[in-house]
Amino acid sequence: MNLKYRKTIIAGNWKMNKTLTETRAFAEAIKPNLGRHKWCEVVLCVPSVNVSGSVKLFKDTRVSIGGESCHYEASGAYTGEVTVEMLKDVGAKYVIIGHSERRQYYNETDFTVNKKVHAALEAGLRPIICVGESLEQRELGVTQELISYQVKVALAGLSDHQVRRAIIAYEPIWAIGTGKTATAQQAGEVCTHIRSIIRKEHGARIARAVTIQYGGSMNAKNAAELLAQPDIDGGLIGGASLKPDDFLTIINAANQ
Ligand code: 13P
Repeated sequence: MNLKYRKTIIAGNWKMNKTLTETRAFAEAIKPNLGRHKWCEVVLCVPSVNVSGSVKLFKDTRVSIGGESCHYEASGAYTGEVTVEMLKDVGAKYVIIGHSERRQYYNETDFTVNKKVHAALEAGLRPIICVGESLEQRELGVTQELISYQVKVALAGLSDHQVRRAIIAYEPIWAIGTGKTATAQQAGEVCTHIRSIIRKEHGARIARAVTIQYGGSMNAKNAAELLAQPDIDGGLIGGASLKPDDFLTIINAANQ
């Protein structure tokens, strides 16, 4: 973390979990214990059907709500999809774009990610852009090249101001939902590399202002060590964000 130049953002990615009734129980459990997290923003990205209800449940708290995906078109014949305006209109502030599960199961590519990032920023939503390598790619030694490519394509055509509002989440695919976390050093190295790419493309002032998260089996036990890395400015948390006590512990680790 580097509190001088950028915000720490702890975000839960609930994936396809929790009904609105379960979300209410979660909100009741964490609201009294949220405290005043001055340095750290807290976000919950929830299934699109629950965005509106979650915004109401977390009204008057410091928790912002986000979507988990969006389409890049403004409207049209795309059964099952939601637009950025729809998310914005019901009170979402963030949207996850290009999660590896979307890339794997729903054919998202770096080029659709780029279109979605433009759409989100134009609508005033902050995109949480996911990048990350598979185990095979890591073992082949192409992690840095792959991450450079993913970041460059995701941010292509954005203004400096827009890049500042984007959040990059480094999520090694082999660490997602596996209980196998990247070591703090491995995660820190890639996040430093991501910032160096942004520096080359957009300059030092913008690069140091961008929030870069780590995601992949981040939990109550390892959060503090990961967040101690200078270029890790938060987390995108799956499993552990579903449990109120674990999520609160991670938020507190970011508030130290
Ligand atoms: P886990 O924290 O469950 O590994 O999931 C990480 C993730 O995919 C967040 O987007």
